[in-house]
Parts: sequence; C-alpha cells; structure tokens
Amino acid sequence: MKKFYINTYGCQMNVHESEKLAGILYERGYIRADSNEEADIILLNTCCIRETAETRVLGNLGIIKKIKEKRPHVMVCICGCMPQKPGTAEMLKKRCPFIDIIIGTHNMYKLGEYLDEAQHKKVVEIWDKEREPENAPIHRDGKFSAWVNIMYGCDNFCSYCIVPYVRGRERSRDFDEIVAEVGSLVKNGYKEITLLGQNVNSYKGGAPEFGNLLRALSQFDGEYWIKFMTSHPKDLTEDVVKAMASSDKIAKFIHLPVQSGSDRILKLMNRKYTSGEYLDKIKMIRDHLPDAGISSDIMVGFPTETEEDYLCSEDLVKKVKYNNLFTFIYSRRSGTVADKMDGQIDLKTKTDRIERLIKLQFDIGNELARSYIGNTYRILCERVENGIGYGKSSCDKSISFEASEENAGKFLNVKITEVKNNKLKGELI
Ligand code: 5AD
Ligand code: SF4
Repeated sequence: MKKFYINTYGCQMNVHESEKLAGILYERGYIRADSNEEADIILLNTCCIRETAETRVLGNLGIIKKIKEKRPHVMVCICGCMPQKPGTAEMLKKRCPFIDIIIGTHNMYKLGEYLDEAQHKKVVEIWDKEREPENAPIHRDGKFSAWVNIMYGCDNFCSYCIVPYVRGRERSRDFDEIVAEVGSLVKNGYKEITLLGQNVNSYKGGAPEFGNLLRALSQFDGEYWIKFMTSHPKDLTEDVVKAMASSDKIAKFIHLPVQSGSDRILKLMNRKYTSGEYLDKIKMIRDHLPDAGISSDIMVGFPTETEEDYLCSEDLVKKVKYNNLFTFIYSRRSGTVADKMDGQIDLKTKTDRIERLIKLQFDIGNELARSYIGNTYRILCERVENGIGYGKSSCDKSISFEASEENAGKFLNVKITEVKNNKLKGELI
C-alpha cells in the first residue's frame, strides 16, 4: 500500500486543508506514513503569509530533494498559497525540477486527478480564479476537536497582507450545509468545533448572518462548544457578542487582531478602525462577557513605524491585557500595497521591538495567570500523556493537570493551583 506524508505550514486554515488532502488520499487507498522518509507521496501544504513560513518551505525542499535522489519513485507535490503567488510556481519549477506536482489554493481539491496525471508528466497548474471546493472528503486529525470552514478568501486588502491575492474573494458556505456538518460532528462525539474564516463576522456579507449562524449552531443536544476565528474588529457586532453570552455552547473566547496601537499606522494598514474604536469593542465584549478570553495579533516594523508608533502598541497591550498575543515582524510581500511604501524598517529595529513586546506580554500574562490561582474552570481535556491531561477552557485558557487516560475527550472541572513559566497547572475536582 502506498504511503503519504503531509508537511503543513501556516495557520489552522492550512491544517484543516491538510485534513481535506488526507481525505482525498485515504479515499484513493493511500495510508499515512510516519515521516517524509517513509512516504511514496510527499506533500507540502504551504503558506506565504510571512517570509518565515516561505523560508521553511524552501529549507525543507532541500531535504526532500535528497530523499528523491535516494528513492526516485517518490512523488513530490507542492500546494497551498505559496505557488498561488505570481511567479512562484515558475521559480519552484526552475529551482526544484524534482517536484512532480505544483498546484495552488483553488485547485487543491483535484489532487487525486493530478496524481494520476503525474504518472506520465510533470503537473504545474495554478488557477487564478477561485472555485468553490468540491465536496472533498475530510480525514480529521482530532477525535474531539474539529474545524469547519464557514467561508473562504478575504475582501479586506489590509495593505501588508497577501491573503486576498492568493485565496481570492470572500465566499461564504451555505448556512444549512454548515448546520448539518456541525450537527453531524456533535452527533459523532466531537466536543469542540471551531468555525474557520479569514473574517467570520462578514459571513454572508455581514451582520446579522454570523450571529444567526451561532444561534443555530447552539441548538444541538449534548455537551459541546463552538469556537470561531478570525474576527476583524470592524465587523464584530454586539449581536454576535450577545449570541455568545446567550448560550453555554458558544465558547467565551474571541481572537480579535489589532495589528497596531497607532492610528497613523492602522490607517496605512487599511484596517478601517482607530485604536479608540478598537478599545470600545473590547469594552463592549467585556460588558457582556466579563470573563471572556481575548487574544490578538500585533505586527511590529510596518513601513514608517516610529518608536512613538510602536509605543502606542505597547500602550494598547497594557490597556487590554490580552490572554494571549501573537507577535509578528512585518515582512514584505510582493504585490501588496505596503511592499511599495517608502520607509521600510531595518531588521534590527524590528527585532528589538518584537523582543520588547514579547517581554511586555510575558509579564502581563504572568500577572493574569497568578490572578487565576484558586479559580475553577470547566475544560475540555484534549489529550492525556504520561499521566498529564491537557485541556482548554471555554475562554481558551490552557491548563494541565494529573489525569488518567479515560479523562481524554471529557469536559472536567479543574482548579488552578499554580503557575510555572506562565503555564497554568491545576487539579481535577
Ligand atoms: N508580515 C507580518 N505579519 C503578517 N500577517 C499578515 N501579513 C503579514 C506580513 N506581511 C500577520 C497578521 C495576521 C496574521 C495571521 O499574520 O498579524 O493577523
Ligand atoms: Fe489579511 Fe486583512 Fe484579510 Fe486578515 S483581514 S486575511 S490580515 S487582508
């Protein structure tokens, strides 16, 4: 039996897409290998959002080249958003002639057909127009947590971001189709379902559709919760937050990327809100959901960012006190508006800023974590390894505790007893 191995780069969207690629391969009779070295088909499901993800792909291609030299029958397929970027497929074809299949984001679902074609010739096919994915089978990695796409693409064109160019315009999935998929996941024992989209609040063109979807998804019997990401601050409405507050089945967690605390930079980024408007949204969330977990993305070193602009981001982080913060160094993406801007920032300044921001968030996280000692949270135990259970609360706090195998996949109450390196430890009660 032929074996495949998928290397995934990037965000949850990509991880879920790899589950769809695995679904196609299992349906064709392939089975999963434990590593690239054991595989007959090696896939690289790539991401080009930041330069670092692209660099990793190119580095791994060097290793895969050596595998192909030793085992020439191995088929190498590169897909995802990197080849979708203009010029990249040609560059890969030239630089890495050992690649058998190069496809983009819009035609990944035809992988099976491309594998047949690649028996006779090299396949390089990138579609420039988005097409709805055909109903590809999904081979889910998790037993208790599942992802469900509710929309694809993005219309926001933040000036730094390549996503709208490589994933195309916003398309929303049919409401009833999503309800049916989530209903069947709940019936099959899934406890945590995360709705995925670049901007879930603009589902079906915007409010009130996403709130309605959340309400419809909270009607099933059984214990489960729905999470979602990502929310663009300009589109998050009070109706959505009220829908979250109205049901235990909607997790009390919002990922709300701010990107910068400086109004001047936010304008250049084309984010369409000010830091004041963002903070109003945070207040609105906390008015309805005082214990909600809130996380964010912040980028440092956007073109022309001064020390003063950077300090506005620090200031915002201090005001919000995020439960979790993902920090990024701005990287130039060809084809985007920001790439053509004057005032690109040198790497040393960017590195210095990100280090300070990480340290600031570490201290805030530590202070918050200590304040949770003694609190009890209902958590979903995701896995148990060597007698330690790992779980997450509805507000997305990660907690570890002594556990036994049968705790996996269960909702449990855990009391926080200590904090080590910002990690919460607790005990079952
Ligand atoms: N450089 C750095 N970070 C970026 N992101 C998106 N584009 C870039 C870029 N060019 C970050 C944003 C986004 C997250 C998914 O990736 O913070 O929210
Ligand atoms: Fe990129 Fe902005 Fe769309 Fe997010 S909302 S995917 S940052 S363009």
